[in-house]
Amino acid sequence: MRTQVAIIGGGPAGLMLSHLLHLDGIDSIVVEKHPREHVLQRIRAGVLEAGSVQLLRDVGLGGRMDAEGHPHDGAYIVWKGEQKVLIDTAKYTGKQMMAYGQTAITEDLYAARDRDGGRIIDDAQSVALHDLTTDEPFVTFEKDRSVERIECDFVAGCDGFHGVSRRCIPSSTLVNYDKSYPFGWLGILSETRPLPDIVYANHERGFALASQRSERMSRYYIQCPLDNSVEEWPDDRFWEELKARFPADMADAIETGPSIEKSIAPLRSFVSEPMRYGRLFTAGDAAHIVPPTGAKGLNLAFSDVWYLSRGLIRRYKDNKDDLLDIYSETALRRVWGAERMSWYLTRLLHLFPDDNPFDQRTREDELDYVARSENAMAALAEQYVGLPYEM
Ligand code: APR
Ligand code: PHB
Repeated sequence: MRTQVAIIGGGPAGLMLSHLLHLDGIDSIVVEKHPREHVLQRIRAGVLEAGSVQLLRDVGLGGRMDAEGHPHDGAYIVWKGEQKVLIDTAKYTGKQMMAYGQTAITEDLYAARDRDGGRIIDDAQSVALHDLTTDEPFVTFEKDRSVERIECDFVAGCDGFHGVSRRCIPSSTLVNYDKSYPFGWLGILSETRPLPDIVYANHERGFALASQRSERMSRYYIQCPLDNSVEEWPDDRFWEELKARFPADMADAIETGPSIEKSIAPLRSFVSEPMRYGRLFTAGDAAHIVPPTGAKGLNLAFSDVWYLSRGLIRRYKDNKDDLLDIYSETALRRVWGAERMSWYLTRLLHLFPDDNPFDQRTREDELDYVARSENAMAALAEQYVGLPYEM
């Protein structure tokens, strides 16, 4: 097979890149390790920054999001079981966010690629990248017991944190920044009426979050020890613990019901620099991970591939490499902004088991400061809504 851009990974980053390139007449093939049903079942975070909402609309993928998504002018933080403050993105930035699940976005992207005749090879085993520092890189994989080969001009590594692309970059070239957190998030999805707002709760029992997917689909999370398993959290125990972490009026408003999905995820910050090696460009979770606090992961995947698509389009249209040459540093500026933001929100809102009372008091003071200071709130709102793309 031959294509212009071989894209490794059919998650949001890979599919959006394929769609963006298609809109400018550039051919790509997406090679995905898992069967499509598996990719479409994954449940992930679901808050879109203003920039991601605009991107989806600009590329003709805003229809279902605008019909089914839940627009937000901000999100609440509650603490000490009573205080409440709005991160007022509408007031401080004039921008709106949207709660719209990554699962639905992935469905929309697959539908668009299918409609436009995009080539997506799923269930591809033993994916390997070759000759990345030459002008003729290629990709091999096994499908239905035969070995296939894709010749291409460029390779986009969009294969997530556990993918193969980042590992093709020699360790002498890469610098990895890594931070893990001493707790996880236990998340559930339930067919119940959600609270009207996204609410982050800092509580002495631990962090909790109320979010939504649609009119009758709620998403809730609570901080839990890393060694817990979902079996230790039957629904009744989950609801009781969740409600204990919210102020009484909100707890009373939480509608409970059977969970339809329940999982525990660890929290991690990770950045791998640079995001280029020869003709390979990494994007999304393949290059960086954020803890879910603030829901920046998908938004970063979108900004990465937007920058990468600009670089590739410039190369094919104007025969210039200038935008490809600055891809890594440009994408990383936004990545680090979101890394710092997610780390900050994680620190601000969670109970850290090893913190001493001094650490806890400074956290409470920070919450009080954000609530009292217009300047602090403006800075938080600007980052929460998402820093703009550099044009
Ligand atoms: N070969 C081909 N595909 C692979 C390989 C491989 N060796 N390894 C992994 N993949 C696929 C995965 O099966 C997955 O479908 O790459 C895809 C990567 O998708 P995501 O993990 O969703 O990553 P990305 O597209 O960068 O999207 C980032 O996803 O992890 C969330 O919260 C994160 O919202 C963020 C978003
Ligand atoms: C979610 O809805 O899954 C969600 C919302 C806000 C976050 C993280 C996750 O900060």
